[in-house]
Amino acid sequence: MQRISQQQINQQWENIEQVRRMNEVYPEPPRAFCQTFGCQQNEADTERIAGMLKEMGYEPTEEPAEASVIVVNTCAVREHAEKRVLGIIGRYTHLKETNPELTICMCGCMVQQEHITEKIKKSYPRVDIVFGTHALWRFPELLLRRLGGSKRLFEIGGSDEGEIAEGLPVLRGKGCHAWLSIMYGCNNFCSYCIVPYVRGRERSRLPEVIEQEMRELVAEGYKDITLLGQNVNSYGKDLDEPIDFSDLLARLDAIPGDYRIRFMTSHPKDASAKLFRTMANGTHISHQLHLPFQSGSDEILKRMNRKYDSAQYRALIAEAREAMPDVVLSSDIIVGFPGETEEDFLQTLRMVEDVEYDLLYTFLYSKRTGTPAATMPDSATQEEKQERFDRLLKTQERIIERRQNAYVGKTVRVLIDGTGKQPSDYPMAGRTDGGLLVLCRGNNLNIGDFVEINIEKASLRALFGTQV
Ligand code: 5AD
Ligand code: SF4
Repeated sequence: MQRISQQQINQQWENIEQVRRMNEVYPEPPRAFCQTFGCQQNEADTERIAGMLKEMGYEPTEEPAEASVIVVNTCAVREHAEKRVLGIIGRYTHLKETNPELTICMCGCMVQQEHITEKIKKSYPRVDIVFGTHALWRFPELLLRRLGGSKRLFEIGGSDEGEIAEGLPVLRGKGCHAWLSIMYGCNNFCSYCIVPYVRGRERSRLPEVIEQEMRELVAEGYKDITLLGQNVNSYGKDLDEPIDFSDLLARLDAIPGDYRIRFMTSHPKDASAKLFRTMANGTHISHQLHLPFQSGSDEILKRMNRKYDSAQYRALIAEAREAMPDVVLSSDIIVGFPGETEEDFLQTLRMVEDVEYDLLYTFLYSKRTGTPAATMPDSATQEEKQERFDRLLKTQERIIERRQNAYVGKTVRVLIDGTGKQPSDYPMAGRTDGGLLVLCRGNNLNIGDFVEINIEKASLRALFGTQV
């Protein structure tokens, strides 16, 4: 792993300054439009790109047609997202017909794959800059070169290692929520997953750097801070000093202030009783655990290379619930992994029924070129897989209905973080400490307030209540 030197970062600041001076000739600041596909890590990366663009003199816009620079941050986890990205890129390239000055950039996980960059080279000649996850910190240099007349740029970088770049700007979204990356990459090589190939090996940011950023976030008034990593439970394994994720969590929790900490994602193979104890004893740590089990079948788990079996997973859930009876649990599940039989699927269904999750993220298996699962034999038809998927959703709906209704009549602490989507009797939106959506009403509720809400009714999607 490579920590990018201060000198290299300073060079990027010089590039930023040069682009800023080029943009000063315009009577109005030019606009930049950023679009994100995929996970929270990508959201956080886009905030870094937006931060660099802002420093380079671009004002953010929500309207691609008025932008001078468009950046699409892509996802490679499933084929569906890749197809959507290519469709959208096709549409943006047409904007060049009325705006020949437009610079179109693609970045992120999808373009870190060779067959995709080849396709863009051949079939998308109007895309100006393509940069992979490992070249993100060099974006100012790439944009400067292209604006200075360079030919199309493809900067992908080696993906088997990885790097950490500190000290570049971030432009966070509005509101009281902030992402805080604590590590990058993944070493797990689950057999279906493309992430380790496109994001490189696990590398942890230094604890003192994370702590400093966290202190700044709290001082700036952020109330809801989510620590991010592909597998936060292996935080610190690559550092010289002995520190694990629980230690980091406790260290951050000691920062004084009125805020809460959440984190994702946890891999069950490294989640521990120590983690649950730290969560239970914390002052600011949300009792929310996203612990993906992917499949309830031991045979499938083995072929997925997940390194735990269903009994170990169940034991972990029991430990988490013992430490935190109010814990809000969620999971990712893949339906239709190669070779999944009806019996395997029933084990998944049984796990869902037994654990009773508050939230599930369910996915149909998507074949990813270059992963071991892509060559595993598969006999189930797409219709069979879809039918299993629908059955899973129905089962989960019944569970959520029961769990959501159990909150009616109870009082919960809610962080107000926005307004409802449409005018209603419950105009404000917030989240419980466990992360459940609450639509609420009260006297003078403001974004960033922690308030007690009495829950009056529930739907599958949200709880509804009034300030106590
Ligand atoms: N097909 C379907 N779902 C996938 N995921 C990762 N790779 C694939 C794939 N090839 C899901 C996993 C993971 C989540 C982020 O995406 O459930 O936990
Ligand atoms: Fe993919 Fe598994 Fe790593 Fe998660 S832990 S990013 S599913 S390889």
